Amino acid sequence: MTDLEAFVAGLPKAELHLHIEGSLEPELMFELGRRNRIDLPFKSVEEVRAAYAFSNLQDFLDIYYQGAGVLQTEQDFADMAMAYFDRAAADGVRHAEIFFDPQTHTDRGLPFSVAAEGLLAGMKAAEAKHGVTSKLILCFLRHLDEDAAFATLKAAEPWLDRIVGVGLDSSEVGHPPSKFARVFAAAGDMGLKRVAHAGEEGPPEYVREALDLLHIDRLDHGNRSLEDEALTARLAAEGMTLTVCPLSNLKLCVVDDLKNHPIPRMLELDLKATINSDDPAYFGGYVAQNYVELARAADLDRDALVTLARNSFEGSFLAEAEKARHLRDLANWSTA
Ligand code: ADE
Ligand code: ZN
Repeated sequence: MTDLEAFVAGLPKAELHLHIEGSLEPELMFELGRRNRIDLPFKSVEEVRAAYAFSNLQDFLDIYYQGAGVLQTEQDFADMAMAYFDRAAADGVRHAEIFFDPQTHTDRGLPFSVAAEGLLAGMKAAEAKHGVTSKLILCFLRHLDEDAAFATLKAAEPWLDRIVGVGLDSSEVGHPPSKFARVFAAAGDMGLKRVAHAGEEGPPEYVREALDLLHIDRLDHGNRSLEDEALTARLAAEGMTLTVCPLSNLKLCVVDDLKNHPIPRMLELDLKATINSDDPAYFGGYVAQNYVELARAADLDRDALVTLARNSFEGSFLAEAEKARHLRDLANWSTA
């Protein structure tokens, strides 16, 4: 392990942008395929990995939704969650706020309860095993219509005391946040937090819509906000947390090279950027690797890495006392 790798692994951090279905490694995908007698269109783990060459978001989503088809039982979801938390704990993650896409599962006939109960069981077991706390965020698929999102929110009702908020993901361009204004208002009325992917491939206007029409508490990605100076200034003034995903951006061709990644510029502009892994099984690295590869390519110093970790706790949905405890641990660790 290099000095940088050891520094990053020890750095207390939260992960705020992680699609749990995107943590399904090919090995587990094959195991679940065998367990559930589901044929995969690949002969080997190597063949699966070789298929993970994407030129944009949609390329990735097509294969990602197909992979999720092996998830059939609560145990499958719990096993996937535990596999993620084993990796996250090794990466110095103290708290994670994880997305799941219920429609990916209900649309292929699974009851809402299977994904929800399985994930919640995995999260509880992971806290007992590793001491890593977590919260669950229900994402609406934006390529589907708002009525389907409303039906999902309704199906989620029995679990809403264990779901911290709603998000918006899947194919961005052509599916602006405005399409989901009413369902986000309903979720807000129910006391749920609100987050949305915006400005990953979509224009700055989508970020404005997420702020003004969805009333988001946190912005997922947000890279393209930097194309609009007034928007950037507004995000800084509002202290909006951005959950940025360097290796995802590289794999989905949102950036051409990590050395040109916008995070250093975001920090200069006083944006509350954080580093996250998005879909680590598909993008070649968990959260610590995102810190390490970005630090190397974009020449981030240790103070910048500590700032990014601090932003991750400050931007979390933890109670203030919990945030303060993590921030104290981080301060003690970084001055030790
Ligand atoms: N679903 C999983 N990963 C995603 C991403 N990076 N953007 C949009 N939807 C997603
Ligand atoms: Zn994402």
